[in-house]
Amino acid sequence: LTIDKGNYRHFMAKEIHEQPEVIGHTLSRYLDLSKMQTTFTNGTSIDFAPLDRLIISACGTAYYAGLVAKYWFERYARLPVDIDVASEFRYREMPIRKGDMALFISQSGETADTLAGLRYCKSQGIKVAAVVNVPESTIAREADLVFPTIAGREIGVASTKAFTCQLAVLASLAVHAGVQRGHVSADEAAALVRSLAEVPGTVNRALSLEAEVEALAQPLSRARDVLYLGRGTSFPLAMEGALKLKEISYIHAEGYPAGELKHGPIALIDEDVPVIVIAPFDQVFEKTVSNMEEVAARGGKVVLITDEKGAAACGAPTWRTVVVPDVPEFIAPIVFALPVQLLAYHTAVFMGTDVDQPRNLAKSVTVE
Ligand code: G6P
Repeated sequence: LTIDKGNYRHFMAKEIHEQPEVIGHTLSRYLDLSKMQTTFTNGTSIDFAPLDRLIISACGTAYYAGLVAKYWFERYARLPVDIDVASEFRYREMPIRKGDMALFISQSGETADTLAGLRYCKSQGIKVAAVVNVPESTIAREADLVFPTIAGREIGVASTKAFTCQLAVLASLAVHAGVQRGHVSADEAAALVRSLAEVPGTVNRALSLEAEVEALAQPLSRARDVLYLGRGTSFPLAMEGALKLKEISYIHAEGYPAGELKHGPIALIDEDVPVIVIAPFDQVFEKTVSNMEEVAARGGKVVLITDEKGAAACGAPTWRTVVVPDVPEFIAPIVFALPVQLLAYHTAVFMGTDVDQPRNLAKSVTVE
């Protein structure tokens, strides 16, 4: 089987554009749209009800998907989540208890640190689940329960479609857990499932922001440092945005929880440091706006990525605003991933780097 770039200049662009389709494939595996329910029955029945804690571990982009899922599991299923990057998790001798379950997330299913974390949890006698994109991989083979992402083969070193498909599986699992644990009613579950069903269409509409996002590439390419800010589920997305940008454009970027700005990064702000603020119109929107005001007051250039409601409500001055379609808060991280990916991609293309094979990076890290 040969995989080509089709009409795209890079695999990364092709993979970004495949997202409406592959997220749809992934969701159709875990949602029953005739009943507006989640479905995790085909050989992978899972019981979240008796759990005291969910342990999540992964590396890189998969770790950020896990961090978004922490917010979802805690909010919708009232299930405490302990999450760490696998390279720390595997050595930190975390006490494992009977009521724990562990969940590992990996595109390749071969990342050495993630695999070692999985083996540690198995050795402690708890059930181990995995969200993986390569079904025949080692992690998929060794996990007790496997929840595949149906992203298809991902070739670009910087992960895009695997990330949003991981989020689709994790969101479905969080709803499932919420119902099993009695914190999400059947009606609430139906509403959450309906919002998930909207994702492929909304992601498709978010792709139409491409030309607008591309226009930011030139000014961004002149920056030496870029700061990404977000709160709640937008905080992991801020870190993912910074990771994408540094991986492929080699511009130094940091993702920060917006509320931590005043505890350090604010010292860096001047007119040369673009600040990308990821802020859907959610519970913490106003808090993030006040952080934007702090940036603007110091001459910082804010690129606000928000939705229509957020654009209408935002009183703070921005340098540029990218407006994503309005979506329910639950699915915002999946939809907001699109402009974040496109921004990194077009900045790298503008700078002429090797987008699909960035220097010093490997698609799958099978050594420690
Ligand atoms: C490498 C890749 C990243 C990926 C990470 C984890 O660093 O370049 O894109 O997120 O490994 O890989 P995994 O296959 O476990 O998701």
